[in-house]
Amino acid sequence: MPQAERVALVTGGSKGIGRAIAAALLDTGTHVLITGRGTAALSSAADDLAPRGQRTGARVEWFAGDVRQETDAYAMVGAVVQRFGALDILVNNAAVGILVEVADMTVAQWRETIETNLSGVFYCTHAAIPHLRARGGGWIINVSSLASRNPFARGAAYSATKAGLNAFGEALMQELRYDGIRVSTVCPGSVRTGFAGSDAGAAADWKLAPEDVAQVVVDLIAHPGRSLPSHVDIRPSRPPRNVLLPLLGIAFNDVLPEPDSAPMPLVSSCNSSMLPLSVMYPTPEAAPMKY
Ligand SMILES: NC(=O)c1ccc[n+]([C@@H]2O[C@H](COP(=O)([O-])OP(=O)(O)OC[C@H]3O[C@@H](n4cnc5c(N)ncnc54)[C@H](OP(=O)(O)O)[C@@H]3O)[C@@H](O)[C@H]2O)c1
Repeated sequence: MPQAERVALVTGGSKGIGRAIAAALLDTGTHVLITGRGTAALSSAADDLAPRGQRTGARVEWFAGDVRQETDAYAMVGAVVQRFGALDILVNNAAVGILVEVADMTVAQWRETIETNLSGVFYCTHAAIPHLRARGGGWIINVSSLASRNPFARGAAYSATKAGLNAFGEALMQELRYDGIRVSTVCPGSVRTGFAGSDAGAAADWKLAPEDVAQVVVDLIAHPGRSLPSHVDIRPSRPPRNVLLPLLGIAFNDVLPEPDSAPMPLVSSCNSSMLPLSVMYPTPEAAPMKY
């Protein structure tokens, strides 16, 4: 399929990583529909992104909707097909990070996290599959997090949704690969965005840039069809050093809460609850592949 004909839907494309993914896709000549709830942010992002597409002949449009609402998810997918005539790439990127201890978390906060980060992915994916099948193939790229495998205090709901997303994506990959639909899960470490109230300023220079994650998405789409990179971890090359963790052979970013704005003293990152979690529980990669 010629790249110029490709069409992508990027949920949560008004800011941060989603916006960078939209920009990178426009650079490849892919038409992009960005979505989110805030119309002002969407409209301004689309205006800023439009010149990127003009260079490659690709158009960017926006559509306001809440992925927690099944009807909105179907409307987003309907809008991309109606405006561009097809759908080839779904990037499930929209998510929230509500970092609160379980004891203090309200039912509304729990539901918002689950419904955005997990149910929203299901709704968008469910709506997209018939269109991807109609094209004879495509891509579904789920933006998860290293927090899916490194749970941390105040991140129970967030980490649970991202762990669930990893499982959802792996099962989905097995269901759709014979249709030529390639499902990949991308797990970034800390990224320099305003996610969950994170610091995106100079103090966050060590973090990944949103463009680093966008590069992974573009690389996944360009990857030769014979093999399928179904899971990619990406983390900062040189996170700040911690006095104790490197001695134990554990990278700072592997165990600190992500996003790292969650106030947690370094000492507690070495406490008995976190190190065994990192060391003892097998990661999905460590588990035997059965297919
Ligand atoms: N930043 C990090 O350190 C980091 C690390 C690992 C993984 N991630 C993952 O990367 C993804 C993007 O994060 P980010 O850092 O770019 O966050 P961000 O800057 O806060 O952007 C989040 C985007 O999602 C949209 N969104 C949130 N709730 C939504 C809803 N219910 N319906 C539709 N859109 C919604 C937001 O727009 P509206 O608010 O206007 O709806 C916004 O466009 C997330 O999946 C996150 O879990 C982030």
